[in-house]
Amino acid sequence: MEESFVQAAASLAGQGFGRPVHGSIRPSELRALGLEPSQVVDFSASISPLGPPAGLWEVLQKVDLTTYPDPENLALREELSRQLGTPEETILVGNGSTEIIHLLARAFLSPATGEAAKSALLLTPTYGEYVGACRLAGASIFNCNANFQPEAASPFSWDMEDVAEHIAAQRATLTFVCNPNNPTGVYLDEHAIGLLAEAADEAGGLLVVDEAYVNFVADRWDSLPLAGGPPVVILRSMTKDYALTGLRLGYAVASPEVIGRLASFQPDWSVNSLAQAAGLHALRDDSYLARAREAVQRSKKMLTKRLNESGYQVLPSPANFLLVEVGDGRMMREQLLRRGLVVRDCASFGLPAHIRIGIRPEPDCIKLAEGMGELRENP
Ligand SMILES: Cc1ncc(COP(=O)(O)O)c(C=O)c1O
Repeated sequence: MEESFVQAAASLAGQGFGRPVHGSIRPSELRALGLEPSQVVDFSASISPLGPPAGLWEVLQKVDLTTYPDPENLALREELSRQLGTPEETILVGNGSTEIIHLLARAFLSPATGEAAKSALLLTPTYGEYVGACRLAGASIFNCNANFQPEAASPFSWDMEDVAEHIAAQRATLTFVCNPNNPTGVYLDEHAIGLLAEAADEAGGLLVVDEAYVNFVADRWDSLPLAGGPPVVILRSMTKDYALTGLRLGYAVASPEVIGRLASFQPDWSVNSLAQAAGLHALRDDSYLARAREAVQRSKKMLTKRLNESGYQVLPSPANFLLVEVGDGRMMREQLLRRGLVVRDCASFGLPAHIRIGIRPEPDCIKLAEGMGELRENP
């Protein structure tokens, strides 16, 4: 095991409770540039390129805003249960999967008075909300950093046996793995996730598998059977699946015990009535996800080819985003922003030479490929 493989991230506590960086464009930044939101094309969030499902506005107009939303999200859970083939009591709906990440941290990591801090283990580099939530819960946080070999076919990789050993050594109460991983695109197979689940179980902890992007993977495996026993929690994001970004919707699948504990920490009405109605409508659109996957694969193939032709190294990704080596990610973001194109600079992931591009419809991706191609010729 390399020394640097596992890093205690406890020193982050010294930075106070700073929020994780998400990298989207802020209104204040747009204002400083004299731009309106409608003047930029946003590749920084990786959501369905199809936009919200057809007929959504008609559905939203019928929502009664004078009554409280259902705090149990019953209709949504019934529909999810039918579609996923898992009982309602194994499903929790949240205000985005981000709410559930915070519920997990509060429900499982907060120490009782006088108790020592609990441990959380993160497979990094990854989505910043995990460390943010674990930090707020007062946990000791350990990062398992991926090995980076730029010339390899899959440049980022974890040694799963090593990660499993560290789950045991830290007696991790929660282990977070994002699959496919934001931002590296690494997609672990059933065997690798099974190994982590076993290690989490032996350590008396839980494995959280965040599948925010899995519905965009053409060749995916079914992780839901893993959520049948106590040690695995699967997270999904309907925000991303159905481009409901402004409404916020996500869900967890886990054992009834875990779901019950999470539900007891969730504030009533955190999922508003518009989001509940939108989610139900989206789930009933049977062909939507398959069409979204196809659109992603088409745009991604075209964009990858054009960026490669311009001389960029595009990392393989089965998900709906690409990680691209550009030399200086911050500078590339600034230069593209001047052209009305917003990409995610990956410095906050510890990858300052990379940007992440969320896959959008083909015409938008062509604009981005042209912009990046021109910057390659005239930096
Ligand atoms: C890996 C991952 N999980 C969860 C989320 C949050 O999704 P939601 O909108 O469902 O809260 C994001 C958002 O970028 C993400 O990248």
